[in-house]
Amino acid sequence: MGDDRETPAPFEPVGTIRAKRDGRALEPERIAWAIDAYVKGSFAEEQMAALLMAIFWRGMDERELAAWTEAMIASGERSDLSDLGPAVVDKHSTGGVGDKVSLALVPLVAACGAVVPQVSGRGLGHTGGTLDKMESIPGWRAHLGTDEQHRILATCGCMIAAATERFVPADRRLYALRDITGTVESIPLIASSIMSKKIAEGARALLLDVKVGQGAFMEQRSDAEALAETMVGIGSAHGVRTAAMLTSMDVPLGQAVGNAIEVAEAIDVLRGGGPEDLRTIVLEEARAMLALVGIDTDPAQALADGRALERFSEMVRLQGGDPDAPLPEGVHLADVPAPRSGWLTKLEARKVGMAAWRLGAGRSRPGEAVSKTAGVRCLVKPGQAVSEGQPVVALFGDDPSRTAGALAELAGGVEVGDEPPEPRPLVLGRIGC
Ligand code: URA
Repeated sequence: MGDDRETPAPFEPVGTIRAKRDGRALEPERIAWAIDAYVKGSFAEEQMAALLMAIFWRGMDERELAAWTEAMIASGERSDLSDLGPAVVDKHSTGGVGDKVSLALVPLVAACGAVVPQVSGRGLGHTGGTLDKMESIPGWRAHLGTDEQHRILATCGCMIAAATERFVPADRRLYALRDITGTVESIPLIASSIMSKKIAEGARALLLDVKVGQGAFMEQRSDAEALAETMVGIGSAHGVRTAAMLTSMDVPLGQAVGNAIEVAEAIDVLRGGGPEDLRTIVLEEARAMLALVGIDTDPAQALADGRALERFSEMVRLQGGDPDAPLPEGVHLADVPAPRSGWLTKLEARKVGMAAWRLGAGRSRPGEAVSKTAGVRCLVKPGQAVSEGQPVVALFGDDPSRTAGALAELAGGVEVGDEPPEPRPLVLGRIGC
C-alpha cells in the first residue's frame, strides 16, 4: 500500500524570516521553496510581508538574488522564442514622464532586422504606461494569447503586449504585497521583479533604460547606478546579454505627456521628425539594442526611408488596430504662461506628470480607466527663450472640472531666468553598452 502522507517541507516560514531578519544569507533551495510555497498558499501573506521587510533591510547577495529571480520565473511560463533566431532583443525603461520611447523603438529595431517581443505594463501614478498609450489607437489590443504573440513576432518581428496570466505570477502577488507594506523601494526586490519578467519573456538580449532625476523612480544617480548594475548582473547570470543606459528625467521627454498625445509624438519620430531629445534617445537606444545582437545597421536610415513607420503600422494592424484612424484629441483646457521674459530654466517632470495624471491620463488604483485624450503639451523646453505671457504648457482633456487640480500641480514647476541653463546631457552613463 502506498504512503499518501505529504513529505514534510525541508524549510518553514518562521525560520526563513528569522534567518533573513538576523542578516544570514538564504540558501537557493530555501528561496525556491519559499516562493513556491507562497504561490501555493502555504507561506502566508503576512509571513511573506515580514520576509520582504527583512529583505528590505538586510538586502540579498548575488547568489540569493539569482535564486530569487529564478524562483519567480519558475512560478510561471517562460516563453521559448528560440525559433525566431538569435537576434531577439528587448528593452525596459524604469519609467519617466513623456517616456514614449518604446512606441517608436520597438518597430524601429524590428525594421533593422531584430525581433522585439515587448511585454509591457500600465501606468500607475505620475508616469504613464505603454499599454495605456497604445490603447488610444482605435481597435488596438494589448491582450494576446501566447500563440498569437508568437505568430505576430514571426510575421512582423515585433509586438507590444500585456503579460498573460501565466507570466511570472509570483511577481504579480509579490508586487501587490510590496505596494501595501512599504517594501517597493528595495534594489534587490525591484531588480528581481523587473528582470524575472524580462527573462521569462524569452529575449536573448536586453537594454535597460534606467531613468534618473526628480521625475523618475530613482532620483539619485547612485541609486540608479546600483539598480542598473544589479539588473545587468542578474541578466548575465541568466544568459541574457544585458546592458544599461542611465538617462536624465528631470524634464519631460519630448513635448507630449498623456496617452493619445504621446502616440502621435512617437509617430512623428517614426516619420523622421519629432522633438530632438526624444529622437536622440530613440536612436541611441536602437543602436545599443542592435549592438547587443550584433546587427550593424544605422537605425536613422530606417526612420528616414519609412521602414520603421511601416513596421509600426503592420504591428498595430496585427494587434487589431487601425494605424490610419485619427487618434482621439482632447479639448484645449488651459495654458500655463511664462511669468516673465527670459530663458526657461525649469520645467519639472514630476509636476508635469502629476498634472497629466490629474487631467485623467493616469490612474490612482489598479484597474481604473484612463482618459485617452487627457494630457499636457510642453510648448517650451528649458534652454529656450520665452516672452512674458507666452504659453509654456498647454493642458488638454475631456473633463474641464479637472483643470484646476492640474494647474495646482504645476505651481512652481515652471521657472524663467536671465540666463539659459547649463545644457544637461540626456545620456548620463552606460553599463555594458
Ligand atoms: N517595476 C517593476 O516591474 N517592479 C518593481 O519592483 C518596480 C518597478
